[in-house]
Amino acid sequence: MDTVTLTDNRSGKSFDAAIKYPKGGTPAMDIADLHKEFELYSFDPSLGNTVSCESKVTHLNAKEGKLYHRGYPIEELAQEKNYLEVCYLLLTGELPDTQQYGEFDDLIRKRYFLHEKLNRLFSAFPDDSHPMSTLSSAVAALTSFYHNFIEIHGSTDFDVNEYYVMAQRIIGKIPTIAAQAYRQSVGLPSIYPDMDRYFTENFLYMLRAYPNNEPEIKDIEIKALDTIFTLHADHGQNASTTAVRVVCSTGAHPYAAISAGISALWGPKHGGANEAVINQLKAIGSVDNVEKYIRKAKDKNDPFRLMGFGHRVYKNYDPRAKILKKILEEIKTEIEIDNKLLEIAYKIEEIALSDEYFISRNLYPNVDFYSGIILTALKIPLNMFTPIFVIGRSVGWVAQWFELRSEENMKITRPRQLYMGDVNKHL
Ligand code: SDX
Repeated sequence: MDTVTLTDNRSGKSFDAAIKYPKGGTPAMDIADLHKEFELYSFDPSLGNTVSCESKVTHLNAKEGKLYHRGYPIEELAQEKNYLEVCYLLLTGELPDTQQYGEFDDLIRKRYFLHEKLNRLFSAFPDDSHPMSTLSSAVAALTSFYHNFIEIHGSTDFDVNEYYVMAQRIIGKIPTIAAQAYRQSVGLPSIYPDMDRYFTENFLYMLRAYPNNEPEIKDIEIKALDTIFTLHADHGQNASTTAVRVVCSTGAHPYAAISAGISALWGPKHGGANEAVINQLKAIGSVDNVEKYIRKAKDKNDPFRLMGFGHRVYKNYDPRAKILKKILEEIKTEIEIDNKLLEIAYKIEEIALSDEYFISRNLYPNVDFYSGIILTALKIPLNMFTPIFVIGRSVGWVAQWFELRSEENMKITRPRQLYMGDVNKHL
């Protein structure tokens, strides 16, 4: 067994930490006995150097900028499979055959609808509520409607079929909740899902339809949005997935864990970046202003950051951003693109990728840099960009939740701290 020898130079005491080798990516040294051996903890505040779990769902190759789901490259999945096929793959570990796909699609369609009492939740929110706040609340509320379907007291002997039912509910209902949240926020009449429509078409239908009015939905729009859902399906132990796993580790209900993921994703450093990119491109306003904003992004004294640029893991071009750029080129012949925003984005990329500041820090466009321009072309409202990310990512959260929940001795997540506060005070 390969090991790393750790020595505490204060005492000269050493211990050998075993090296655990993954099937893909960087090995890790097992420091589970660190405290027992040295009475020391490891200090890694944002956990960027810490492996929190073993997983078989998704692998990111940081150096080469590659992404794999259950071993398949994202480029092949995005090109050859639809989002529901990728959902089946993430949940079960295998791609569905024709019959399995048909059954899965049918089960998801049957779960598009919300309990009528849940529909009343939306009218309780102020009209200018951000759909992300309604979305996280409504998903947590699912716990009240389906509380008795998953053993929530930590036992591992829950029926795996209940897991698949929970997964179908999350995948099938989140688009309906997201669409209802939006329609409510702008005073549009409610539109029920249409079970005769495929997942992605149904979502566009719920966003665009009016009672007794058939909206225009182009095939190329369905394909573009479906690929966006696939590109957002899962991404290893990112911040929102870590939030889901932490809530899962306490034995709380799975819908509560998914709701925690939604809240974590909302931040502009994470999934909220897609909305922030569009606001930033609009604020830059012209290609002539790009140089000025690049300077601001490089200035340590300026809080301005290039949204859609950089990544906690990829130190190369985000493979999803490459696919999104390709989609932009494919749809521009049939769908009107905001060329002014696109020109600004292309100019930012052109300048940044030849600038020492970005090159030395391995800062490249990430998944959020181009997705917003496509969503704008699909006439998706800006405040629905991050809910779109939620719809895509929901299956990844469920797959990761199940992976942890299935562990024999699932332990509650409980990191330590360095206490730096006052001591020895008395009343
Ligand atoms: C997602 O983890 C995932 O997998 C997330 C995600 C997923 O699918 O779940 O991929 C989705 O969240 C993508 C990221 C979306 N966020 C943004 O686009 C926001 C803009 N990006 C930055 O906020 C930033 O790049 C982060 C948050 C993404 C990463 O931040 P880090 O970890 O601090 O980046 P780093 O350690 O690599 O930074 C190195 C240097 C620092 O400068 P120095 O201290 O070395 O001088 O690069 C600088 C940073 O200040 N830097 C930037 C920058 N991002 C990092 N400088 C200018 N503009 C930026 N965008």
